[in-house]
Amino acid sequence: MLIKRNKGWEIPESQATPEAVFLNRRTMLKGVGAIGGMIAAGAALPGAAFAGHKESDEVDPSAHLYPVAQNEIFKLDRPLTPEKFATHYNNYYEFGSQKEIYQLAQNLPIRPWTIQVDGLVEKEMTLDIDDLLARMPLEERLYRHRCVEAWSIAVPYSGFPLKALIDLVRPLGSAKYLVMQTFEKPEVARGQKQFWYPWPYTDGLTMAEATNDLAFIATGYYGKPIPRQNGAPLRLAVPWKYGFKHVKGIARMTFSEQRPVSFWEEIQAAEYGFWANVNPEVSHPRWSQASEKFYGPDGLKRVPTQLYNGYAEFVAGLYDGLEKEPLYM
Ligand code: MTE
Repeated sequence: MLIKRNKGWEIPESQATPEAVFLNRRTMLKGVGAIGGMIAAGAALPGAAFAGHKESDEVDPSAHLYPVAQNEIFKLDRPLTPEKFATHYNNYYEFGSQKEIYQLAQNLPIRPWTIQVDGLVEKEMTLDIDDLLARMPLEERLYRHRCVEAWSIAVPYSGFPLKALIDLVRPLGSAKYLVMQTFEKPEVARGQKQFWYPWPYTDGLTMAEATNDLAFIATGYYGKPIPRQNGAPLRLAVPWKYGFKHVKGIARMTFSEQRPVSFWEEIQAAEYGFWANVNPEVSHPRWSQASEKFYGPDGLKRVPTQLYNGYAEFVAGLYDGLEKEPLYM
């Protein structure tokens, strides 16, 4: 059954955020002259209304691994987004459809954490996150991140190439797709009690995409373990695609011959397709993708969207011969 619902990312933040939080934040922002640029541009400083609240107290056992050396191949054409913004303005429907989920996300236990690997592999296995981290080549990469909602950020992820994990678990030659799924814990992730969503959050890549140099598993953010709200303890980063492909809190990886139907594709296939490559010339059915709101150190700036989010040199060849597929939505 096709479920037609408005998603939080399709409505103004003032409507997506509980009114009290929104009004409170507006009041706080009025008094802070230094961030006038952001206010003028219509952006709020996410997290300001929660200034008194704490992140989780638990010490992440991977904290000693970071920071890691930066891979210089991946360069940015813009400054980094302030950490405070990138960690307080999130999409994570497991914790709610508003952007300020970071505090609710602190309820997620991230140890012990295992990743089930199954389907078309030589041997099905369950990986422990800390064993995996010890075996992977960690590096930092500066990546642009483009949400389908037409906002963007530029962030430092730490982690490892997805290909390194694929080489470790040895899929069979018959595997055509890698399917990734998020945890299922409705007792701590209250969004998962909303039965009309097709949990668990699922998305996937072709094997050629998954083994591309750019496909990355992020386990760190801003030189520290990645926070829960950004997908701890591990999330996907495929920066040439819209952000909804970037599965957070990965708990299962399945190698398959069948193309998966992703979470958003199941909800609205005409708007959130399997390929989801960024292209300024292909509009979302309800808004243009020609430009995006980039959140940088000076606040919000509208900038032109780039084909494959500026990563064409790495990935355009993946789609040769696939021109008849809806590659950009
Ligand atoms: N992963 C899960 N499990 N649940 C989600 O709701 N939202 C996606 C993606 N990964 C989402 C998810 C969307 S729409 C975006 S834009 C990015 O996460 C946002 O990542 P960020 O909050 O770290 O910027």
